[in-house]
Amino acid sequence: MTHFLDINKTDASALCDIIDSAISMKQARAGAPKGTADADQPLDGRMVALIFEKPSTRTRVSFDVGVRQMGGQTMVLSGADMQLGHGETIADTARVMSRYVDLIMIRTFEEATLLEMAEHATVPVINGLTNRTHPCQIMADVMTFEEHRGPIKGKKVVWSGDGNNVFASFAHAAGQFGFDLTFTGPEPLDPEYGFLEEARAKGANVVIERNPHVAVEGADLVVTDTWVSMHDPQSARERRHNQLRGYQVNAELMAKANPDALFMHCLPAHRDDEATSEVMDGPHSVIFDEAENRLHVQKAIMRHCLGV
Ligand code: CP
Repeated sequence: MTHFLDINKTDASALCDIIDSAISMKQARAGAPKGTADADQPLDGRMVALIFEKPSTRTRVSFDVGVRQMGGQTMVLSGADMQLGHGETIADTARVMSRYVDLIMIRTFEEATLLEMAEHATVPVINGLTNRTHPCQIMADVMTFEEHRGPIKGKKVVWSGDGNNVFASFAHAAGQFGFDLTFTGPEPLDPEYGFLEEARAKGANVVIERNPHVAVEGADLVVTDTWVSMHDPQSARERRHNQLRGYQVNAELMAKANPDALFMHCLPAHRDDEATSEVMDGPHSVIFDEAENRLHVQKAIMRHCLGV
């Protein structure tokens, strides 16, 4: 069973193959209308369940379109409409769903839900985000960097802001793809140190630097994310803003990075909070390429999981 649960749980060589496959598939359909079927139809006859316990625009639409382009069919299910973890165990839902569909993508709250689903499903399971990680997003980010700047190995990536689930997958990717990673943010919002230690154990240079202006020196890629994640209490909003205001990615900060540095944000963004519109719409920004590449890289991830 080939699940895609986290970047650190898939072989580094397979991750590189997924990126290469995604770039090839993207190039093969360049300019085609979005609803046009790919020449190759590897998901012909396959049914894919897309389960969302949290809101989504990019993940939902990109998986749905990707399956259809590859000849498969989808059913989009909201957690509220299912008996997932209430009414029946997640294990039983996994066993039942496996009798109906060929692949399950799930966006959920607790990592334990994803892992229980994967343990008991007899079809591949893909992590579409948990409170802990967001691997499909960072695969799209690596693809986007490599399209624009070549191999990410040995490059310097700087994350400014909250040490959240998206950062965690960047830490996994640093270990697997071999890039340097600097976290800059206030200490109360540090990532789990275990993510940093794991990347270091794989040879990545991973550091914490409290001063964002020092952190971005020599950066090839600057990344940020929303200051209040979906699973954070809204009551934390004002405190988060006070803690993170100094870590906003603005033109002054980007000017300290390498002249050809890229800027990424997984979106959705709160413009002029974590990043200014000047940066988001400026010459360093590749945020909409990132969003597009969710489609291409997830198609490659699904092919990897299904072996097709
Ligand atoms: N970046 C991302 O996962 O977007 P959605 O929450 O809209 O899916």
